[in-house]
Amino acid sequence: MKLFMPTKVYSEKNCVENHSRELAALGTKALVVTGKHSSRINGSLEDVTKALERENIPYMVYDEIEENPSVETVMKAASLGITEGTDFVIGVGGGSPMDASKAIALMIANPEHDERLLYTRTQVSPDGPVYPALPVAEIPTTAGTGSEVTPYAILTKNVLPDIVLTTIPEADVQAAFSHLEKKTKQSISHSVFPALALVDVSYLQTASRSGCINTAVDTLAHLIESHLNANSTEYSRIYSEMGLRTWARIKDKLLRYEIGEEERQALMRACTLGGMAIAHTGTSLPHGLSYPVTCEMGLPHGKAVGIFLPGFIRNYGNQEEAMKVLSLLDFGGEQTFSEYIRQLLGEVSIAEDLWERTMDELLANPAKLKNYPFMIDKEKLQRFR
Ligand SMILES: [Fe+2]
Repeated sequence: MKLFMPTKVYSEKNCVENHSRELAALGTKALVVTGKHSSRINGSLEDVTKALERENIPYMVYDEIEENPSVETVMKAASLGITEGTDFVIGVGGGSPMDASKAIALMIANPEHDERLLYTRTQVSPDGPVYPALPVAEIPTTAGTGSEVTPYAILTKNVLPDIVLTTIPEADVQAAFSHLEKKTKQSISHSVFPALALVDVSYLQTASRSGCINTAVDTLAHLIESHLNANSTEYSRIYSEMGLRTWARIKDKLLRYEIGEEERQALMRACTLGGMAIAHTGTSLPHGLSYPVTCEMGLPHGKAVGIFLPGFIRNYGNQEEAMKVLSLLDFGGEQTFSEYIRQLLGEVSIAEDLWERTMDELLANPAKLKNYPFMIDKEKLQRFR
């Protein structure tokens, strides 16, 4: 059993200002990584740049991180970081800028490598090379992903179908088949824990109703999938249990969207706990099923994951454990939970051919099945929809 949470977390109002010295201590020139708009609207970007100026730390801002950030965007930002001589990275925003910042920190620290490094497996051999990343600080402005305390960086990448990759491996021939490429989301093969997370609930105030709900459901999924997981331990369940109890307290208000200061605090706390939980266990089948749905239907991540949660609970191999989770969430049973999720997210229908492909892709990927502690086949997976 292992407990490893190396990220130093400050969770309080004005924490960027309060801990500017610790932020500045991460390096001598910062690359601030963010999206186009929201970090300007909620004040987080201004707080970060002011803190760096106060500490006399020069910085560059890269503000072109899109939702579901691509490998190409990461490489563009890393190239800027290398040219400018930045030696630490600050991610400001939701999951997209925070995830991207970790991948960017890896690429800046290894300038002799190209993008293939992102998905070069390093854990195959215990003696294999470990590629260090620059120090990373994360300033979350949504309560969902928990990326501020996880080592994961999920990027969107283009992949060729296996049949092309296995039969025609040369890069130039692959280029000729680029019209067959499809997008998929996958975490990079490296573990990049942020050194510092500065969590200020004030930045949540500008979130939209749908943004707040979708990210809250992402948090819920992290807590459930971590708790019902082949890797869960008594240590990881400290985080997931506390997170589930916290989520339970706001669930009715979330449905009515009566979200004030107290509820935002609870959502942020649950989110960070969810991140700490999945940092130990990884996620499970709902996340695995969500990626094709996100890429092809354009559903927000939290919603794409959330629609599979009732099926996951209903069909989980140990129903006693599944019911314990529902009881921590203060739901009377599976039907009440399903109805709640349906009311919160609305009806989502997935086209038959996409659903077939989604199941086939998941079942063909052992890495995405390994956290589910029971045998799973297509017949069982059919019931998750
Ligand atoms: Fe997630």
